[in-house]
Amino acid sequence: MKVLVTGGTGFIGSHTVVELQKAGFEVVAMDNFENSAPSVIENIKTITGKNFHFYEADIRNKAALDKIFTDHSDIEAVIHFAAYKSVNESVEKPLAYYENNVGGTVNLVEVMQKHGVKNLVFSSSCTVYGDVSVDALPITEDSPVVKANSPYGNTKKICEELLYDTAKASTTRIVALRYFNPIGAHDSALIGELPNGVPNNLIPFVTQTAIGIREKLTVFGNDYPTRDGSCIRDFIHVVDLAKAHVKAIEYFDKSADSYSVFNIGTGTGNTVLEAIHAFEKVSSTKLNYQIGDRRPGDVVQIYASCDKAINVLGWQAERTLENSLETAWKWELHLKQLREQAVN
Ligand code: UD1
Repeated sequence: MKVLVTGGTGFIGSHTVVELQKAGFEVVAMDNFENSAPSVIENIKTITGKNFHFYEADIRNKAALDKIFTDHSDIEAVIHFAAYKSVNESVEKPLAYYENNVGGTVNLVEVMQKHGVKNLVFSSSCTVYGDVSVDALPITEDSPVVKANSPYGNTKKICEELLYDTAKASTTRIVALRYFNPIGAHDSALIGELPNGVPNNLIPFVTQTAIGIREKLTVFGNDYPTRDGSCIRDFIHVVDLAKAHVKAIEYFDKSADSYSVFNIGTGTGNTVLEAIHAFEKVSSTKLNYQIGDRRPGDVVQIYASCDKAINVLGWQAERTLENSLETAWKWELHLKQLREQAVN
């Protein structure tokens, strides 16, 4: 079966291309390299020992999408990652986020429908749950979707809604996966996260500080009502997350549902400080960090109930927080080696 992966050289996309190939799927990938690099293509091929079709294309360009589906009339399903993902940037450039994330999704579904491709896996986020009360944790898929607190979050909410409406009105079928906090890298250290500029997310900031690119990490608040005062998140290894997409594709064959949503997390919440201390342990480094003010818009704590993914998709996260951090560190060390080779 042939699957199109949009955002195929990005952080989650690249790991998913690997897992799809390992599971025997034929892959067509596309990316515009706005937040990834062409070298990722060769690195994926080195990992899997297999070839895949690649298009440098932008999700906002409908003609480019049309060409892919024309060239590959046997595509049966699409996994849609291509989107902007910075909360801060979305506040400054809301229209760019709506155009790329919402407009891109509309384009994609229109072209899929034109070519008779029915099955779409959509990258959503736990951000749709907003700030939840402790007694709602672990959060289930039945929890209400609330008003988003950033344009980025709103694009995920709007896409879920437009996909729901489309699934009800047509033969298009949707599996929306709500990711918690993806971290880590492939065990080979050949692919991982490549943040553009100063990372917004915790773990890339941690590894860049440990390697000396950043001077100091600031922990955004230690006066939250949690066990050590820092926020709680559900950190999930990107390879586990990638495997959930393979299960989602397989689910189209098993189920007649037109629209389904799954939480994709580990089911365990860890505080920011716990993650930092676990990182120090696995990397045998001392992290330079300070406690700072709370970051506006942060939710206090959130972690997934994964019962639905376990029971319905037959998927469960397998990696530990330590393993996720170990692979993130190995990746950062690999990037350092590449920088040194480039200089010499
Ligand atoms: C955010 C979004 C999430 C989105 C993800 C994509 C919200 C509330 N969350 O996740 O929807 O899918 O980005 O990238 O919009 N932290 C520090 N210091 C740092 C960086 C982070 O203490 O330098 C803390 C944060 O305050 C937070 C935790 O680490 O408590 C995780 O932050 P981050 O990695 O940015 O992810 P989220 O905010 O959970």
